[in-house]
Amino acid sequence: MTIHIGAKPGDIAETVLMPGDPYRAKWAAETFLEDATCINEVRGMLGFTGTWRGNRVTIHGSGMGMPSLSIYANELIRDYNAQTLIRIGSCGGMQRKVEVRDVILAMTASSLSTPSRGIFKELNFAPCADYGLLRAAADAAAAKGVATHVGGIYSSDVFYDERPDLNEQMTRHGILGVEMEAAELYNLAARHGRRALAVLTVSDHLLTGEALPSEDRERSFGDMVEIALEAAFA
Ligand code: HPA
Repeated sequence: MTIHIGAKPGDIAETVLMPGDPYRAKWAAETFLEDATCINEVRGMLGFTGTWRGNRVTIHGSGMGMPSLSIYANELIRDYNAQTLIRIGSCGGMQRKVEVRDVILAMTASSLSTPSRGIFKELNFAPCADYGLLRAAADAAAAKGVATHVGGIYSSDVFYDERPDLNEQMTRHGILGVEMEAAELYNLAARHGRRALAVLTVSDHLLTGEALPSEDRERSFGDMVEIALEAAFA
């Protein structure tokens, strides 16, 4: 047990998928894993461990934003020995070529700041995905025929953004989408020598204002979970 995770030693698999929403962790575990059991519910942050095609997998919520993700990812890495951590979540599209329902594989994650800022001081560290996971996820997405984009994303500290000029610069520099967690996950994986990737579904669009209707969300999010699982065990 850690401060924020009630799981016993050994309850958590080496491969962990991390959606922001604890109820999405429950849905993904019930939909895609066999013999899924709940291994954490401290503060309502649900985690489940089961198997996928015979491989042990944990699906554990991260909460919203980098400080929350940082707590869970630190404990999963340092106390439970998680080796492969894949964020599965939603993002806002920032390019015309990126459409709602498309999948984004985050090669890099830019930010204004992350919880690791204090360590890096004046250094602008470039958080990036594990290349093996990234390549395997791109292959899995192509095999499924899912419209997929691979490139940089923006990990923001705010959902209710007061800096449209910053979004403009991100779009101008080819950033594909905005979410709120990946950069710190990549920082932690780099620090501890683990593999990380963010597989994101575009749920809304900053340029067009379009948003994924709730009835379409499950199908689109399902593709993302399968891509993450196939990449983890490729
Ligand atoms: N901003 C930040 N995070 C998000 C967004 C957004 O527009 N959409 C989904 N996650």
